[in-house]
Amino acid sequence: MSLRETHCAEQLTGARSLASELVNPASFLQLVEAARDKTRVSGLTHNFYRYPARVSPKFVRAAIEMFTEPGDIVYDPFMGGGTSLVEAIALGRHAVGTDISSLATFVSEAKTKILSDRQLSALSDWAESLAESVNIRKPAPTWAEYEAAGYHKHLGSSFTWRLRKAIEQALGSAISLPPTQEVFARCVVLRTAQWALDGRKQLPTVDEFRNALIDYAFEMLAGARELKSAVETHVEKIPQAICINRAVEGLERTRLFAAKKPRLVLTSPPYPGVHVLYHRWQVDGRKETAAPFWIANKLDGSGASYYTLGDRQATDNWTYFEGLQRSLSSVAQICSDETTIIQVVAFSDPKRQLQRYLEVAEDAGLEELSLSSLVDDEDGRLWRTIPNRKWHAGQMGNIPSSQEVVLFHRRRRGQKPPTS
Ligand SMILES: C[S@@+](CC[C@H](N)C(=O)[O-])C[C@H]1O[C@@H](n2cnc3c(N)ncnc32)[C@H](O)[C@@H]1O
Repeated sequence: MSLRETHCAEQLTGARSLASELVNPASFLQLVEAARDKTRVSGLTHNFYRYPARVSPKFVRAAIEMFTEPGDIVYDPFMGGGTSLVEAIALGRHAVGTDISSLATFVSEAKTKILSDRQLSALSDWAESLAESVNIRKPAPTWAEYEAAGYHKHLGSSFTWRLRKAIEQALGSAISLPPTQEVFARCVVLRTAQWALDGRKQLPTVDEFRNALIDYAFEMLAGARELKSAVETHVEKIPQAICINRAVEGLERTRLFAAKKPRLVLTSPPYPGVHVLYHRWQVDGRKETAAPFWIANKLDGSGASYYTLGDRQATDNWTYFEGLQRSLSSVAQICSDETTIIQVVAFSDPKRQLQRYLEVAEDAGLEELSLSSLVDDEDGRLWRTIPNRKWHAGQMGNIPSSQEVVLFHRRRRGQKPPTS
């Protein structure tokens, strides 16, 4: 089935055209190529964690370069693992992100923190010391409160207990560091534990875990150095990214963008009808564990629908679209007329849900920009396929490869200014 057969919301006829607003429409081709690029995620701090459904850094970079200048604000309302924030600061833009998940906020903070040379060198010493820290014959510290609260569920079987002990030992060494370094070190443990446990048919041995821990630590230090040097090439000194653990809804009632509006909103919200497990890993078959929150020293306590804008069981995705409307309405209110709003979205049922999605965006005060003459997709939108990504769609079973659409909006002209 071709892309053209599967997506087909209404064509964008008579819509405001993006091409007419671009200084150099030919350069849009680079953005299209970046959107369709299929190489693996790499570079900077992007591999600090494999956040589910992360967007392509290449596409994010091309969008930031095309729609902003150094010193502008890039805002990601659903920041997840912080891909857009990392690229924004690397390009000398101010970066702001919000996410309802404390795990997403932890990961985004760890990925965007610019460490000093002294901190990097202390972390290098810590990475060297890991060979001694993880040893199955030595005792491990315990995390009684997390254990009592159920964060260790499914980590006590005859297959998993050794790895849990190795994680406890690695965390024990991370918490001996000063706070900023501890965040980086916890993220190293998080990345290694994700590799070791999440979705694995065969678990690694403790020796393999220790080796991977050391490799990840040095690889992530190299990424942190790469980000630091990218940030330091810019004339204007960009402060640390702002990563806020909160919902988008109601953001217009805060002072966050009171002094300056974002120039670009670049985001990938949860997808309607597509079940993505943002807050759990799967161990021992498909048993879910909240261990990532324990490793990040964060609290969870919320079910899957909390992170996906609603209940995936509801056949009409009613809860999802209600939540989306509230979120996009807040986004519209913190933007100026010059803000470009780019959303990357996938659907379990594109025919039905894209149309609804667009109506919701319109009701929230956004106006879609047509890409006709910029892209060859018949409906005047930019589509991309992602190979090898199998999602479980709520009502449809497994969809073999996923399709995403990249939507471009502006605040509707004449929209009321933010109320606060
Ligand atoms: C598709 S992911 C974003 C992935 C991200 N673009 C990346 O590259 O890592 C969607 C995110 O939206 C967050 N989320 C869900 N509902 C939210 C809300 N009401 N406000 C803010 N974030 C929310 C989820 O926790 C999840 O991290």
